[in-house]
Amino acid sequence: MTTTASVRVSLQPRRSRTQAEPTANSGSLVDRFGRVHRDLRISITDRCNLRCVYCMPEEGVAFAPRSQILSYEELGRVARIAHGIGVTRVRITGGEPLVRRGLESFVATLAEIGFDDLSMTTNGIGLARRAQDLANAGLHRVNISCDSLRPDRFPKIRRSGELPPVLAAMDAAEKAGLRPIKVNVVVLAGINDDEILDFAAFARDTGRVVRFIEYMPLDGAGNWDRSSVVPAAEILETIGKRWALEPVVPSDSDPSAPATRYRFTDGMGEIGVIPTVTEPFCGTCDRLRITADGAIRNCLFASQETPLRELLRSGGSDDDVARSLRRAVYAKLPGHGINDPGFLRPARSMSMIGG
Ligand code: 5AD
Ligand code: SF4
Repeated sequence: MTTTASVRVSLQPRRSRTQAEPTANSGSLVDRFGRVHRDLRISITDRCNLRCVYCMPEEGVAFAPRSQILSYEELGRVARIAHGIGVTRVRITGGEPLVRRGLESFVATLAEIGFDDLSMTTNGIGLARRAQDLANAGLHRVNISCDSLRPDRFPKIRRSGELPPVLAAMDAAEKAGLRPIKVNVVVLAGINDDEILDFAAFARDTGRVVRFIEYMPLDGAGNWDRSSVVPAAEILETIGKRWALEPVVPSDSDPSAPATRYRFTDGMGEIGVIPTVTEPFCGTCDRLRITADGAIRNCLFASQETPLRELLRSGGSDDDVARSLRRAVYAKLPGHGINDPGFLRPARSMSMIGG
């Protein structure tokens, strides 16, 4: 077994002296450290039908007024412009994307643009009956969140919802061809870390790619602390003691992907870990986000955003929008700074940013 760090290409971006501040509008979305941005996460809503403990507070969530939420036309336009300057992968996120009406036709709009990869992150509630329509609209694949395989525990972590519909969603998504199905598990110390082996067995039994995510300081209630994080290295050790694992070598995997991938040496599938807190992978990050209320975020943990909504609504040209995307990328810091003494958690929680 190898630790995650050994398969990372680099942990810090290399500073490039050749990247001047963007003025012209041609070429790709490259930052000051030479990171070329190809992955766009589009949040279509900040609303959700669940209230997962690691994401939203139980009560008193303030949603953006509808007038501030970008229309599908506006989002589609941004996606088309981003495609023109080198974005090849798009992920639809929320909040919960399935709660916004008209999702299927938005998927069709994105599919028409022609991204290499078009995926969606969802909690799976209600997906079972919509998976086929989404696949028909052109969605390629889904990541489904599921933090417990125990029917009694599942609703405690998600504060509502039930496990069976989420398992049914995975089956339906598979049947509809939305593969590979990735299952996102946020590992919380003392809450679901006793299910690591169960999830590994689930990956082996189903062929679904289970991805263990370190708990990040993005919960709406502000309860995160370091003691509630289960380090990815520990997760790998627990699984590796039971079933031998080997890293999926970088040449077989996308070096900019957040998950470090491991396969079971007996050929029974694969798992991933997302070690954001203990082994940051900012050096290879190529992700950019649009929030539902129309801001560009260059990092989950950024303290500043680049506003876009007013530009879109006041007759800004495609070149103006492209310039804003470039400026946002250019302003990206080398790392998220979670482990710095002065780290301030972002004002927005995960459901307001888009995972
Ligand atoms: N830490 C880690 N992952 C989180 N997610 C939401 N909040 C957090 C957090 N605080 C994940 C969910 C979902 C994706 C959108 O983000 O599991 O899969
Ligand atoms: Fe909703 Fe996803 Fe946040 Fe859970 S993690 S509350 S499902 S947006």
